[in-house]
Order: sequence, then structure tokens, then C-alpha cells
Amino acid sequence: MERNLILAFESSCDETSVAVVEDGKTILSNIVATQIKSHQRFGGVVPEVASRHHIEQITACIDLALSEAQVTYDDLSAVAVTYGPGLVGALLIGVTAAKTVAYAHQLPLIPVNHMAGHIYAARYVAPIEFPALALLVSGGHTELVYLAEPGQFEIIGETRDDAAGEAYDKIGRVLGINYPAGKEVDRLAHLGKDNFHFPRAMDKDDSFDFSFSGLKSAFINTVHHADQIGETLNREDLAASFQQAVVDVLADKTVRALKAFPVKQLILAGGVAANQGLRDRLTTELTQFPDVTFLKAPIKLCGDNAAMIGAAGYVSYQLNQFGDAGLNADPSLEF
Ligand code: KG4
Ligand code: ZN
Repeated sequence: MERNLILAFESSCDETSVAVVEDGKTILSNIVATQIKSHQRFGGVVPEVASRHHIEQITACIDLALSEAQVTYDDLSAVAVTYGPGLVGALLIGVTAAKTVAYAHQLPLIPVNHMAGHIYAARYVAPIEFPALALLVSGGHTELVYLAEPGQFEIIGETRDDAAGEAYDKIGRVLGINYPAGKEVDRLAHLGKDNFHFPRAMDKDDSFDFSFSGLKSAFINTVHHADQIGETLNREDLAASFQQAVVDVLADKTVRALKAFPVKQLILAGGVAANQGLRDRLTTELTQFPDVTFLKAPIKLCGDNAAMIGAAGYVSYQLNQFGDAGLNADPSLEF
């Protein structure tokens, strides 16, 4: 049987990434050029800086992805690309590069939703079994997504304000941690105790929605108040208390959703899915659901990368969902 080889592009935020993926389940190469250092001194991603870096990096990323995979353009079956959601200028670089390669080499073009890509990072662990529920937690999104069958995504709950990763980054800044702060806050949290008991917003209501801005404000007010009276708070305990509040809400809502939507699989994906506290807590919660398997995106594929776009693109390929030269970036794309 002929190999299906997809050249995949991801450039929605601050990683320029190109991958070659075989049959939607094997990574032949996954080049990720991160720009984090350039954005750190601004405390977050600067869209203009991101676009410039993507332009500078993308051609080298394509060359490296092909050579590392030991394939040429002639071996490819299709080109997949993130076309939203994300920063418009950043997305446009990937979309333009993908359209150019598709046109020059007469290959089908597959538009991929970045969030579908995050979910499909889990495909590198095991096949997705439907129906499935995904807890999607990233720097820009916090969503519970119901997947009835391949190619179908229905948001059943989402954040009403800050995304979980965004809250991590903002409270991290108050602790003097560089952007993106999630990984370091996670590390500190394991060294401390939940002594501050921050609020768990919307934890007990009936919706599957989330809210993290109240928690973020409570955290920042606590630290500022201590500063004003010359008191120094324990950083590990602050981190542990913040993380416990986030994990409690994410886990409680996910359990409630699993009760309301019987599924075969729970998928954990997105940058915040790398969080050890969250992975451990959901593993424990899942013992209540012996018929549900827990598919965690591999930690190294939780952040933005093109391999996940190749896996999601393969599903679209099989469903004959192709784009054309008119494909444009859609910064606020939804499922
Ligand atoms: O999915 P992603 O790479 O980019 C977006 O599409 O947003 O997610 C990045 C987010 C950042 O906010 C970062 O702080 C957070 O993921 N993050 C974590 C951890 N590792 C990364 N948050 C909590 N715990 C972690 N271990
Ligand atoms: Zn992402």
C-alpha cells in the first residue's frame, strides 16, 4: 500500500513548525523553531515580532523537515496547515507557505483548525475511539469538546474569560517567572501546600463553562497586599494553592461532563495538558469510569507543533475535506 505522507505547517502563535507525518500516526520529522526568547522581555507574545520570526524561519523548517524525514516533495500526498485560530499575521505565513508548496507541487491542501490539532496530538499515543470527550487547555483556550465521530467537534463548555494557560502566565509574572510560566509554576506547586484556598469559580454550577479571571485577581491581590504590608509569602505555597484551584475546577467539570456525555475516551490536550498536577488528578478521577480510557497527549507534543496538525490533517484527508488557493487565515476560527 502506498504511504500517505503529509507535510504539515503550524505558525499560529510563537512556534514556527513543519512536520512530515506518515498515515496520520507516525512522526517522520517535527521541526519546532521557538521564538520564546524574543517575546520574553515583553512578558508575552508580540504579534509583529512573531510574524517576522515566522518569515525568517519557515523555509529552513521546511528543508529540515523534509531532510530529517528523508523524503522529497515528490513523495508527499498532501500539505496540511493551521489556518486559525491564532494571530492573523502569524497564521498568514504558514498558510502562504503551505499554499505555495501545494501549488508548486500539485498537492491537495488541507486546512486544519489549531484546536483540532491539539486534540490529535493524542493520536500519537493510540487511535482515538469515538465518541470521545476532550479537555483542551492551552494559552488561549479552555474547552470541553465532544467528538461524536471523526471530523466532528462540539464545544460543550468553555472559559468565559481567561484561558487556564493565560492565568498561569499572568500569575507567573507576579511571581517573577518568565513567560510562559506554566511549567515553572507547576514545578513550584509540587513543593508547596494549598494554604491560601483561592476561589474555585463556577465549580458547583450546572454548566460546563469555566472562569479563571477571579482566581487570577485573588492571587494578584493576595501578593500585592502582602507587598504593601512588607510581608513575604511562600512562593511554593502560592503556586500550589493556585494550581490546586485550577486543577479542582478542570477536574470537577470534566467529571461532570463524563457523567452527562457517556464516551469511550477522555483526551487531555493543549499546552496546559503538560501539567503534572492535572494529569495525575484526572488519572485518579478516571478510576470512577472504568469504561473510559484516558488518552493524554505526549508531554513533548502538548505545546504547539506541526506533527499534531499532520495527524488532524490526515483525518480531513480521509474525509476529503480540502481547501484551495483561496484559503485565508481565520484568527477567530471556531469548530
Ligand atoms: O497550546 P500552547 O502551546 O499554545 C497555545 O495554543 O496557547 O499552550 C501554551 C500554554 C502557556 O500558557 C503555558 O504557560 C502553558 O501552556 N503551559 C503549562 C505547562 N506547560 C505549558 N501550564 C501549566 N502547567 C504546565 N506544565
Ligand atoms: Zn496551541
